[in-house]
Amino acid sequence: MKYAKNILETIGNTPLVQLNSVTKEVDALVLAKVETFNPGNSVKDRMALKMIEDAEADGRLKPGGTIIEGTSGNTGMGLALAAIVKGYKCIFVISDKQSKEKMDILRAVGAEVVVCPTNVEPDDPRSYYSVSKRLGEETPNSWYVNQYDNPSNAQAHYEQTGPEIWEQTDGKITHFVVGVGTGGTVSGTAKFLKEKNPNIKIWGVDTYGSVFKKYHETGIFDENEIYPYITEGIGEDILPKNVDFSLIDGFTKVTDKDAAIYTRRIAKEEGIFVGNSAGSAIKGLLQLKDEFKPDDVVVVLFHDHGSRYVGKMFNDDWMRDRGFLEEEITTAGDLIKDHIDKPLVTVQTEELVSHAIERMRAFKISQIPVRDANGFVGSVDESALLHSYLEDKNIAEKPIKDVMGKAYPTVKKSASIDEVSKLINKENQAVLVDLENGKYHIVTKYDIIRAI
Ligand SMILES: Cc1ncc(COP(=O)(O)O)c(C=O)c1O
Repeated sequence: MKYAKNILETIGNTPLVQLNSVTKEVDALVLAKVETFNPGNSVKDRMALKMIEDAEADGRLKPGGTIIEGTSGNTGMGLALAAIVKGYKCIFVISDKQSKEKMDILRAVGAEVVVCPTNVEPDDPRSYYSVSKRLGEETPNSWYVNQYDNPSNAQAHYEQTGPEIWEQTDGKITHFVVGVGTGGTVSGTAKFLKEKNPNIKIWGVDTYGSVFKKYHETGIFDENEIYPYITEGIGEDILPKNVDFSLIDGFTKVTDKDAAIYTRRIAKEEGIFVGNSAGSAIKGLLQLKDEFKPDDVVVVLFHDHGSRYVGKMFNDDWMRDRGFLEEEITTAGDLIKDHIDKPLVTVQTEELVSHAIERMRAFKISQIPVRDANGFVGSVDESALLHSYLEDKNIAEKPIKDVMGKAYPTVKKSASIDEVSKLINKENQAVLVDLENGKYHIVTKYDIIRAI
């Protein structure tokens, strides 16, 4: 019989898969180390188990203890699986920018999840670094993992990921490209590969909003490089001890938009359903394509599974809201595509100004078309209302017909963006689009600016 004695024995020995489409402009063999085959669906299972085993061995983690960690989800999953098999409790601290799916998944495997704000300084008491440290100090019989500075993190990749890639490529790997977060994956794998062949080039993939690339190139920790970003799992606003900059030959930075677009492309073009840092890694690899020669063997690592991003990079509305969808917007119909399913908010001529104000507040809008029984007869917008208020402080109780301006012009769905833009001016804050089914929708300045 061939079986694993528990789920932890299935960690590692993930496949190396040739990429045939998404990297076709690269003149080299490109192979992806697909870490979703681990039981927790990410590379992090490897280091999570290693960190626990090392802590057990030297007494930092005692029987029945509580494992505490600040984790963006994947390390938490690995720790939780090991905790279940080995009988520990888990408390994970996660930042609010992480996907809801990741939090739900951690709860599904029995962990307690504490959510902290993303946009605070690392030394702020609310930050996820500070909260995890504090919980570590306050909880009896607990062990604070600290994947950033815990040497067992990189060591796991030195013992497993590096040797697997070396064997799977028959020692022919020439380049390793990988997203860098705590640095465990890049540093441990790089250490093993460079010991085997110092000519292997190691490329780290970084994000805009992270300090790694500049620090590697100049030795300067530049706080100006730190700003909020969307890409998950890679980039940092600290220098984790697990990033061994001496083993990394260079960094390339990938934008949030490119990372999101390439996350989708890997799924669609290769049939490999992987996460956001895989999209970053592939775009980084494409940015580096001039580094590779035809006989080179380039290995890229895909950290985690796409299912954790179904509400984000794999969701059209989420992508459109951030301007990440590469859609051609040429007509009035295109401009209203993302809110066409929402009802058009209107007011009637006999309603009071206070009703229009309430509706503007509730729907977070700045202008409303006015209707009567025959159709659209006027409009109100916030600057006109302010103007009327300055003249008459009792305006809120007046009927709309006393303060309304001109009705908005109406265009067909097929009207070009140019035609629509020309109709919007100081007097005219919006245009109505005739949906040809008795319904109308509104295009505002905001929609046009977003399209640009
Ligand atoms: C999805 C994802 N990608 C990349 C990384 C970066 O890996 P490492 O921390 O080993 O540098 C992480 C780490 O949290 C991750 O969760």
